[in-house]
Amino acid sequence: MDSSKNPIGLFDSGIGGTSIWREINNLLPNEDTIYLADSKNAPYGQKSKEEILHLSIKNTEFLLEQNCKLIVVACNTATTNAIKELREKYSIPFIGIEPAIKPAALQTKTGTVGILATKGTLNSELFHKTVAGLHDIKIMEQVGFGLVQLIEEGKLGSAELDTLLEQYLKPMIEANIDCLVLGCSHYPYLIPQIKKILPTHVKIIDSGEAVARQTKKILEKNSLINKDNDNAKQVFYTNANPSVLQMIIGSSYKVNESDF
Ligand code: DGL
Repeated sequence: MDSSKNPIGLFDSGIGGTSIWREINNLLPNEDTIYLADSKNAPYGQKSKEEILHLSIKNTEFLLEQNCKLIVVACNTATTNAIKELREKYSIPFIGIEPAIKPAALQTKTGTVGILATKGTLNSELFHKTVAGLHDIKIMEQVGFGLVQLIEEGKLGSAELDTLLEQYLKPMIEANIDCLVLGCSHYPYLIPQIKKILPTHVKIIDSGEAVARQTKKILEKNSLINKDNDNAKQVFYTNANPSVLQMIIGSSYKVNESDF
């Protein structure tokens, strides 16, 4: 059966994964997409592996009911804790997002790299494995306590976020990092505020574009590219207050409320 006309599904604990959706939509404008913001259950970052897996399965089942041909786990926490199990359980391709620590290790000149991510990502086996493979690099890990909650509350640009970011980034600046890895799909929305704090020579690295390129590659490999779809549909669902998601994606898209 030709499923190339079916949509790409994406899910995140909330609105953060729209940073990934944006990159995918730019690179693959002919693809229909369905985005799930599981904001009712945000943040995932402080939950146990079992809880994250349970929520990831729930989101996947909803997207499969809508006939998604491929699922992008647009959440570092869910990827690092659940993608292996999702790939074992379901037959469609899954694309995950992981902190871009390897590209940062290749780019650093000072040999010190900072990473801001959730507790669930930094404690995951997958992340530990990645870090263990890097030698002669000092990695400063920082859990972004409170950041996702404030973003989910629509407080982008707020003084509360400035205070937390200063607290998390100052020790990294003092340790002479020259790369900062954003290990959570919510954090690209903090870049304007982060830039005000970091010295200009520090590179901010996130994984959005790489995920979009990987999505394209896997669609091509599986003959799943949607050709000749000039009127691609972008569908958004949330199970919490829709206003912040609406603000993030803009008024040209509709947000559907659903208790998935
Ligand atoms: N956006 C998510 C991530 O990439 C999850 C953040 C959270 O819910 O704690 O990790």
